[in-house]
Amino acid sequence: MEDFSFYNPTNYIFGKNALDSLASETAKIGKKVFVTYGGGSIKKNGIYDKVMQQLTDFDVQEFGGIEPNPRVETLRKAIAQAKEFQPDIILAVGGGSTIDGSKLIAAATYYDGDAWDVIATKGEKIAAKIIPLATVLTISATASEVNGGSVITKWETNEKDYFSTVKVNPVFSIVNPEFQYSLPVDQSAYGVIDTFSHILEQYINQTEHATVQDRFAEGLMLTLIEWGPVVLKEPTSYSARANIAFAASMALNNLIGSGVGQDWATHELEHVVSGFYDIPHAAGLAVITPRWMKHIGLTQKLAKMAQYGRRVWGLSGTNEEVAQQAINKTSEFFESLGVKMTFSEWGISSTEVAKLVEKAVNRDPMGEIPLNEEQMRAIYSDCF
Ligand code: NZQ
Ligand code: ZN
Repeated sequence: MEDFSFYNPTNYIFGKNALDSLASETAKIGKKVFVTYGGGSIKKNGIYDKVMQQLTDFDVQEFGGIEPNPRVETLRKAIAQAKEFQPDIILAVGGGSTIDGSKLIAAATYYDGDAWDVIATKGEKIAAKIIPLATVLTISATASEVNGGSVITKWETNEKDYFSTVKVNPVFSIVNPEFQYSLPVDQSAYGVIDTFSHILEQYINQTEHATVQDRFAEGLMLTLIEWGPVVLKEPTSYSARANIAFAASMALNNLIGSGVGQDWATHELEHVVSGFYDIPHAAGLAVITPRWMKHIGLTQKLAKMAQYGRRVWGLSGTNEEVAQQAINKTSEFFESLGVKMTFSEWGISSTEVAKLVEKAVNRDPMGEIPLNEEQMRAIYSDCF
């Protein structure tokens, strides 16, 4: 196990009555609340009304329309509004896109330059004064409700990149699994797959004897394998929603990534794809993950892939046999959740591989063992 510091300052408020804490938790921070949200699902499913009922004693302004794969072009408008309003707190009501976008608003409202500088410098250029952020989560996937990561797209140049700092970790996050009953089936599946991928990116490492992290990670993956299919059949199963929601948050709150060699190659390759084609993040992960396993997992990470196969999928045989079967099991699991398994099915042509590789080689490799250009080409080429 490697050295680490584990610090997560978010107050995580979970359960059917979690929203009852909203007014009292907000009052600890201030009176002026900037409520942000996405394309309007919260108005259809009643969450907007429930939130606003809690905020009747506050001075509220709102900004709606933060799109999936949130764009800096939209967020600049929110930042201009926040500059005028000068809120004490931003309350993001939504999923990873609304929360990530709100982290940029929090970090860039009092920054003098353009908001994209925050992303381009990976958070090095950031306002001295950060607006505190809180969240009401409506989809469990990214764990943005419990981390300092923010993934933003600059659509005009097709860049999708991130900054990360504990300074934008939510002060508190309200997670009521019932708020996810209204999710479309595909978004429920994407939540499970994004979470599964986050766990793999931290678990398939070369660090020895990080048993605590491994066992947590395996437990989270088994939880998703158990409850993922249930949530698709029974979208209003509280047990399914609750277990998936807690697993998603624990998958990327720094816990299982502490003290191990993380490898975010699949995410890096995916962000390039959704930066160009605006497909859902986890749709891209479902396609790339088995191909990354084939090209990297079976070679550089064989021992850990075999451990994954034995402990998570109950497989037996030689390391090579188990690792290969584990890839098949992973693909079958994703496919059973009803997602597409090739980019061709998303209408993307294999002639785009060169463009994808060109973008990917210029990114922060973020891998325990960074991918080279040939490996990137091989992985992308297999995705069609
Ligand atoms: O926009 P609205 O109307 O809210 O609709 C959303 C959106 O269309 C809908 N939805 C959310 N909650 C709902 C609901 N519909 C009905 N009922 C509900 N309760 O679902 C759609 C997807 O929402 P979105 O916020 O985009 O999903 P997700 O949470 O998967 O976020 C994806 C974004 O997060 C980034 C991704 O790259 C992508 O841009 N990521 C952020 C990370 C982080 N901050 O740590 C890490 C991840 O790896 C990821 O990269
Ligand atoms: Zn992800």
